[in-house]
Amino acid sequence: MPPTAGVIRRLDETVVNRIAAGEVIQRPANAIKEMIENCLDAKSTSIQVIVKEGGMKLIQIQDNGCGIRKEDMEIVCERFTTSKLQSFEDLSSISTYGFRGEALASISHVAHVTITTKTADGKCAYRATYADGKLKAPPKPCAGNQGTQISVEDLFYNVSTRRKALKSASEEHARIVEVVSRYAIHNSGISFSVKKQGETMADVRTLSNATTVDNIRTVFGNAVSRELIEVGCEDVKLAFKMKGYVTNANYSMKKCIFLLFINARLVESSALKKAIETVYAAYLPKNTHPFLYLSLEIAPQNVDVNVHPTKHEVHFLHEESIIERVQQHIESKLLGSNSSRMYFTQVLMWLHNTKEFLHYNGLEVGHIYLMGRYLSRLL
Ligand SMILES: Nc1ncnc2c1ncn2[C@@H]1O[C@H](COP(=O)(O)OP(=O)(O)OP(=O)(O)O)[C@@H](O)[C@H]1O
Ligand SMILES: [Mg+2]
Repeated sequence: MPPTAGVIRRLDETVVNRIAAGEVIQRPANAIKEMIENCLDAKSTSIQVIVKEGGMKLIQIQDNGCGIRKEDMEIVCERFTTSKLQSFEDLSSISTYGFRGEALASISHVAHVTITTKTADGKCAYRATYADGKLKAPPKPCAGNQGTQISVEDLFYNVSTRRKALKSASEEHARIVEVVSRYAIHNSGISFSVKKQGETMADVRTLSNATTVDNIRTVFGNAVSRELIEVGCEDVKLAFKMKGYVTNANYSMKKCIFLLFINARLVESSALKKAIETVYAAYLPKNTHPFLYLSLEIAPQNVDVNVHPTKHEVHFLHEESIIERVQQHIESKLLGSNSSRMYFTQVLMWLHNTKEFLHYNGLEVGHIYLMGRYLSRLL
């Protein structure tokens, strides 16, 4: 019997939306990242996050940004509603994190969302709750400060597979603290805090007058912050600028910490990571790694931000050449830093002594440098 063709049916809108939501919001930390980006787009200078059970029970984010107009509260959680993008062409010069109008919608399809918000010219604040993208009841006037507070409760209450796939609350909490900390480091001038509900001590708190290095110290401690080298380079032809802080050859740890921002977006690039790690491999003890915080500004028309539903990746023109330039710059900075100079003097002295020793024993001089190179990697 030949196989019979299946009947093609149109999926229900809520099913479509829930599937799409699952791509954008993979875990609590994704939801927090999206909401932090909204706070930043709203020009907030203070962003406070409270979470319960690793964000699975509650995520609450309070900002002091521009707020949401009461008239817009009806559609704010619908898919494809945004105050940031109008035409497709705008995407090539976009300066906001948001552009799709999908984040809040996605969250509201997989959690219970409550928004309390007040604009500068609004007489009072308004509060509304949402389910599956829609208002549950008209917004109610209430007391509230300028800005927006969004509460997300029972994340994935209607997606049991996702709920089960999540790690323990403590692991999800750690991921949340990581996202908040990284944005805090990149956005000195804005105060961030993240804490568990009911606790008085925040897991991370940064102050608005703190510098980038202060924030790195707050998050990663003195051991990292006192070994930082400032890096920075630019190339007009490749239309990019890079700045940041990386640890010198004195510092190393078991796992590489790489904070990468491209046009202010927290992204991942295994190619860039690999290129930089290769440089460090010649300086650091075997199987140890550096701390890296890099911020790349690439001409927006050369960057495609719309390649990943969680926006964790971007594509950009001249990728190989840009990576090579960054790699070269970091290598030159590492070589030039005091600590590596000291380190090299030690190696050279050691080589000199070895040379004498080998010479005395009638061995080939050519071998010494090879051995030195090999041993310097082991040291
Ligand atoms: N914290 C906030 N303060 C002020 N306005 C906000 C805030 N969060 C969301 N909004 C408003 O709600 C709209 C929808 O937010 P949402 O994150 O869903 O979409 P977006 O940011 O426009 O695009 P993207 O899906 O790419 O993030 C935003 O365009 C913005 O106008
Ligand atoms: Mg957004």
